[in-house]
Formats: sequence, structure tokens, C-alpha cells
Amino acid sequence: MIYSRITGTGGYLPDKVLTNYDLEKIVDTSDQWIRERTGIRERHIAADGQNTVDLAEQAARRALQAAGRDPQDIDLIIVATTTPDRVFPSTACLLQKRLDRHGCAAFDLQAVCTGFVYALGVADKFVRTGSARCALVVGSETLSRVLDWKDRSTCVLFGDGAGAVVLEASEEPGILSSHLHADGAYEHLLSVPGGVSQGYDSFKDGKGFVTMKGNEVFKVAVNTLGRIVDETLEANALDKSDIDWLIPHQANIRIIQATAKKLKMPMDRVVVTVGEHGNTSSASVPLALDVAVRDGRIKAGETLLMEAFGGGFTWGSVLLKF
Ligand code: UT7
Repeated sequence: MIYSRITGTGGYLPDKVLTNYDLEKIVDTSDQWIRERTGIRERHIAADGQNTVDLAEQAARRALQAAGRDPQDIDLIIVATTTPDRVFPSTACLLQKRLDRHGCAAFDLQAVCTGFVYALGVADKFVRTGSARCALVVGSETLSRVLDWKDRSTCVLFGDGAGAVVLEASEEPGILSSHLHADGAYEHLLSVPGGVSQGYDSFKDGKGFVTMKGNEVFKVAVNTLGRIVDETLEANALDKSDIDWLIPHQANIRIIQATAKKLKMPMDRVVVTVGEHGNTSSASVPLALDVAVRDGRIKAGETLLMEAFGGGFTWGSVLLKF
């Protein structure tokens, strides 16, 4: 039996930090409101000319180094992103060029904030079926480019960043299961309404920016993430107490706390980066993983539950032995 195992993690955040106090000067908001409603204190913003592939490359190189792998070892690249650099080629192909790796499969995956969880689930299937032995799985976003900086209900929430893992074939598990879901009936609650096939005019009048009915998204997110926790534990015949670490999507500390409560998990077993990163969409889970691996909290052999929820709606989880 072939399993897939994470052998290295990497993360990258742009240098520029935008605090809640900086935002007070841009829109009618306050540090207190943002902290109390979301848990966010600051977020990182990509510099002019710094694009999604630039962030992805940094995170990817760090993950490769941690895994002791060379770009030539990679036989699959998946980049989860909602903010690709171009209509085409994919950001994965642009990353492949940066890494000077030629010929292996490379594609983007778009599942918004659930993108990395989806990408890890897909890469796991490639590895388990023998189609890949060493996959590079990245979540990279420059969400700041699709924010309306006059809309206080969205611009305070998001940040830029990238996270990556190297996923390799192994006789030992590894990824135990992945659970991927979507329901497009909710597309109107969270979206960027403009799009290429509608013509470039569709990006006018603010339609190229994130729009969100925040409190409606909030309610569905809390319920859905509660259900996916049950589904994941049931599928693996595990008890809540078997999970060592929860690595949630970092959209809102209140959503994270609700999921932790459902798992009866103390917050010191939950990796929380929302305060410093904001919501980095598909980068949030791999960035949180990388932070807790590098600071020594997450150790080999521990059981991790990753979960995410985002536009689509999409949602999913990955349970794994690290
Ligand atoms: O990652 C993808 C999934 N996304 C999410 O999971 C996000 C889910 N939603 C949320 O995290 C929360 O709903 C938000 C943080 C977006 C909003 O928090 P909320 O507690 O649901 O607030 P609300 O939207 O119900 O707004 C409450 C009040 C409103 O004022 P009134 O109508 O009560 O007078 C808003 O106008 O807060 C106001 N408000 C703000 N005030 C200061 C909204 N944004 C701001 C702001 N600063 N930035």
C-alpha cells in the first residue's frame, strides 16, 4: 500500500505589514472592532510588482529545503490560488519555470479558501495511485489585489502570503483521509462577480472586488465546519481526543473557536495565525502548518486535522499523521 506523507513545509509572507491602526486611516473602522469581531491585528501586503508566483516560489523553495529535496525531484506541482498572475499560463507553470523544472505535470486549482485542502486531497490521490512520487503543493494568494480598499466590511479581513508542502510516497501514513465538498447554490454570498468570459467590462463598477454577506457566510461556515469534523472522525473511526492539533482556515477567530469547541479541544492545541496573517485564503492552512512545525509545536507522528471553508461555497478537511 502506498501512502503520501508531508516531508517538508514552507511559508512566505511579504515584508509590508498593514496594521489595524493603518486601516483606521483608510476606512471608517477601529482596531477594537477588527480585533473583537475577527481576531486580526495585522496582515501582510505584497509590494508593487510582487505577484502570486513570487510568493509561491519563496514558500516552495523553503518547503523543498525542509524536505531535503531538489526541484528536479518534483513530479507534480499544484498551486491553489484564486489570484493567479495571468489568465494563462497557470501560476503552477510559472512556478515550474522559476524552479527550472521541465516536463512534470503542473496545474492550478481554484477552490478559494479551501484551495490548499483541495490541492492536498488531489495530490494525495496522485501519490496513492502511483502517478506521482514527490508532489509540490502550494497555496499562494495576493488577495489585496481584489479588495475594494473603500469597503470596510471586506478590506480589513484579508492578507497576502503563500504556504507549501512537499508530499512524498511512503510506506507509512501520511494522509489518512481527505473530504472535499462544495455547494454552488451559495455563490452569491461570497464572490468576485466579474470574470474574463463576461468581458473586461464585467470588472467595472467594483465587480472586480470581493463582495461578501459576512454574517450569513459566518453562520454557514460554523455549521459546515462542525459537520466536516464529525465526518472526518467517523470515516477514520477516531475520537475527538485522538486529534493532537487542529489547523483551521484562518478567517475569523470566532469561527476557529467554535470548531475547537465542537472538538472539545483547548485553544492551545489549535494553530492560530489569524492575528498576524489575516485571511490569506488558500495560503492560510499551509502557512499555519509551517509556523507550528518551525516553532516546534507540531512533532513527527502527531495527528493533525486541517479544515477550511470558502467561496463557492467550498469546504473540506484533511486528516494526517505528520
Ligand atoms: O474565508 C472565507 C470565508 N469567510 C468567512 O468565513 C468570513 C465570515 N464572516 C465573518 O467573519 C464576519 O461576519 C465578519 C468579520 C465579516 C463581520 O462580523 P459580524 O460580527 O458578522 O458583523 P456584521 O457584518 O454583522 O456587521 C456588524 C456591524 C455593522 O454595523 P450596523 O449595521 O450594526 O450598524 C457593520 O456596518 O459592524 C459594521 N462593520 C464595521 N464596523 C467597523 C462592518 N465592518 C466594519 C469594520 N469596522 N471594518
